[in-house]
Amino acid sequence: MKIQSSSPKKPSRDIVERGKLEYEWATSLMKVIIKILKKYQRSKPLSNFNLGFCLHITKETSVLIMAAKSLGAQISICSANPLSIQAEIIEFLRYNEINVFAKKNPNRKEFFENIFKVSNTNPHVVIDDGAELHSIIHQRQIKGVYGGTEETTSGIFRILSLQSTTGLNYPIIGVNNAKSKYFFDNRYGTGQSTVYGILRTLGILIAGKRFVVCGYGWVGRGVSSCLRGLGANVTITEVDPIKALEAHMDGFNVQRLEAILPKGDCFITCTGQKDVISRYDFDIIKNGAFLANAGHFDVEIDVAYLYSQDNHPIQLRPNVESFNIKGKKINLIAKGRVINLVGGEGNSPEVMDLSFSNQLLSILFILKNYKKLGREFHQVPKKIDYQVAHFALSSFGIKIDKLTRDQVDYQTKVYLNY
Ligand code: ADE
Repeated sequence: MKIQSSSPKKPSRDIVERGKLEYEWATSLMKVIIKILKKYQRSKPLSNFNLGFCLHITKETSVLIMAAKSLGAQISICSANPLSIQAEIIEFLRYNEINVFAKKNPNRKEFFENIFKVSNTNPHVVIDDGAELHSIIHQRQIKGVYGGTEETTSGIFRILSLQSTTGLNYPIIGVNNAKSKYFFDNRYGTGQSTVYGILRTLGILIAGKRFVVCGYGWVGRGVSSCLRGLGANVTITEVDPIKALEAHMDGFNVQRLEAILPKGDCFITCTGQKDVISRYDFDIIKNGAFLANAGHFDVEIDVAYLYSQDNHPIQLRPNVESFNIKGKKINLIAKGRVINLVGGEGNSPEVMDLSFSNQLLSILFILKNYKKLGREFHQVPKKIDYQVAHFALSSFGIKIDKLTRDQVDYQTKVYLNY
């Protein structure tokens, strides 16, 4: 099937070349995916299958896309976020005959039209980040999808809600929930890239500043430990008593948001929840505070209220707007959209290697097993999760021990005696 992708005009060779260099740089750091590729390249198990992707269009994503292409797939892709797109990657992928439905800085209508276009390409497998494409395919009752995957915590919330309301039309594997994904991508990956996004946007000194991290899930843990490493004074806010206790025992200040609002220099939301910093909080927040969001959706900070109160904020620098709210300055970073991708480069290739290897192996698993899988949410099979970890260890040159037969027997006996 030949699909017309939304390529407005012929790109310059320059931009394609820049995209290629970025792709090659990421590839050199994504060794697990390359190992998987080598294993399956001869049999081309994705031949005759259409894959529909809705991911952040980054250099790391191009490695996954090119891997799927070289396993034989026909591919269409749109962006999971209007502001996270790398233009040179779009052109590099188009040059390589991938159907890319995306452009840099689309308006809302264009952004959703592109997701619709991917949903129209008869995908056999749908690979999503945030569940926007899954939702549209379900709303439009598009048939012929064998299965799908989901990359993020926020997307899995949406899929579980879809499952419990209208039901799912095909099995969906929650890649986010693989241990070899969230332990590393959400914690070390997003932890580092969020702090990098803030540094690149503001260029401020972190040491000595009072940072407030809302949410102590895997992302919150990663962000706060990176900030602490750079000398910040870090306070955590939480709603979950276990996570709050963990933050306390990890040595962080734990407080109610209300108590820290007047003192924090920079607030970072990492919850997946809406209105974490609400319109009422702006009444007591410190003058000159910076606000950033690390969650997938731009709902964690009440951005709409800021624009409704001051529709001409001062553009302090790229990606930083200063609002005048009742005489107070409130500085919003990256419009409250996912800071690590909009203000920075997203997660580094080494962690995306783990996440996207889980993606690639899950796609292969779906195509082999979709007839047996129920139309419901599934976890990544443990075999895939552990295979990714083993491949990653070997790519880092690390060897680990194995249980002896005796130890396996001992463990089984102890277990049976309970
Ligand atoms: N999500 C977070 N970082 C990413 C990256 N570099 N590429 C694609 N998706 C991402």
